[in-house]
Amino acid sequence: MTRYDLVIKNGLIVTATDRFRADIGISGEKIAALGHHLHGDKEVDATGLLVMPGGVDGHCHIEQDEADGTVHEDGFASATGSALLGGTTTVVCFSAHLPGKGLKEQFLAYRDKGHASRCDYAIHQIITRTDRETLETGIPEVVALGAAGLKVFMTYDAFHLADDQVLQVLSAALPYDVIISLHCENYEAIRFLVSQHLAEGKIHAHSHATSRPVSVEREATSRAIALSEVTGQPIQIFHVSSPEVAAEIARARDRGVQVAAETCTHYLTLTEDELKREGFEGAKFICSPPLRSAVEREGMWGALRDGTISVVSSDHCGYTYEGSSGKARYGRNADFSKIPNGMPGLGTRLPVLFDAAITRDRIDLTDFVRVTATNPAKRYGLYPRKGTIAPGSDADLVLWDPAIRKTISPELFESAIDYTPYDGREVTGWPVATYLRGRLAMGNGVLHSIPGDGLYLARAGRSHA
Ligand code: URP
Ligand code: ZN
Ligand code: ZN
Repeated sequence: MTRYDLVIKNGLIVTATDRFRADIGISGEKIAALGHHLHGDKEVDATGLLVMPGGVDGHCHIEQDEADGTVHEDGFASATGSALLGGTTTVVCFSAHLPGKGLKEQFLAYRDKGHASRCDYAIHQIITRTDRETLETGIPEVVALGAAGLKVFMTYDAFHLADDQVLQVLSAALPYDVIISLHCENYEAIRFLVSQHLAEGKIHAHSHATSRPVSVEREATSRAIALSEVTGQPIQIFHVSSPEVAAEIARARDRGVQVAAETCTHYLTLTEDELKREGFEGAKFICSPPLRSAVEREGMWGALRDGTISVVSSDHCGYTYEGSSGKARYGRNADFSKIPNGMPGLGTRLPVLFDAAITRDRIDLTDFVRVTATNPAKRYGLYPRKGTIAPGSDADLVLWDPAIRKTISPELFESAIDYTPYDGREVTGWPVATYLRGRLAMGNGVLHSIPGDGLYLARAGRSHA
């Protein structure tokens, strides 16, 4: 009889399509068999637990270089530690495209930073200019190095590309099987609204939301879709925040456009009311696109259920609340437009979403696995190595107790970031063990994976728009 290195016994296995009770036999780093009465040198009893594929977070800003010379405060070792504590085993993070540096040079330097990772990682390449070198040499080179995708911004002073440049990137990437993801907000409209707010003395964090209304996101999304149609390049819309935007995407799909969509935990679980908190507290919730109303938040679940949105990421951003390069880098009296955009969310993504989705009956378990692990793995060419439980796949598993109640606090995730937007939230369901390629990476809230245990993952196979 075959003996495995490790057998996870008696758990309820959940994949994107099925749930069934079985043992998982693991040999080395791979899942070798699913069956009954399997035996191994080590056996772990998962009775009463869900056994799901380790989460794949397709959108995380980790130790990312910024145009102003700063670096995101959450480094690879700490960010990926919080990922494992929250049940995520693969992160897809971002290589910057700074002035004066070529794409390949930056991609390789960033890949090297990832050597401190505790979980596996893949890399998106940001494109912020369209000179000949970028289009003709840089893009093919980073694709050959295994870039998981390319990201284009339609807003932000330091990053945004005009329509003709977006078209150039879309068509330069056409020969390659790599997905282009876009940050869709109308740059000019935001500039106009921000100056109007400031002129009227509206400087509080909540003005971040009113200066970036949904019309700004909807318009840019529809323009990005049109540019995709012009070139024939499949795209993905990142961090969709509102059902109105999702409706634009559904309409494009109906006419045959290959447009995929991602949303983030916070658009499903928080509202813009958080930005109204007293003093500087609202800064904790500044991200772009901004948080929306409670009605829109509920509508986002509909877009997830009907498949318009097929991936839920964290859009994790490593800005501390107190630190000198974080939210308060320009002081606590700075107007909203100076506060760095983004919230931490790598560790909390799965527990917060599980509670909101499963415990509150909004989507079912297979959907949960599909949007948090299987679909992102497929989209970034990591499937079936990642994102599923099947013979031949990496033994990346999360053992989940659906009944444990916890109160979220930043300490639970050992993060370098001193706050979480979910501080004090009570959730039901929690990861009790995370396995990375067959090894226990986290058990009962204790990290076992060390910096360097994570592997760089080059994109392989098709990316699915
Ligand atoms: O506010 C956000 N989302 N910050 C991170 C950068 C981005 O746009 O993804
Ligand atoms: Zn973005
Ligand atoms: Zn982002």
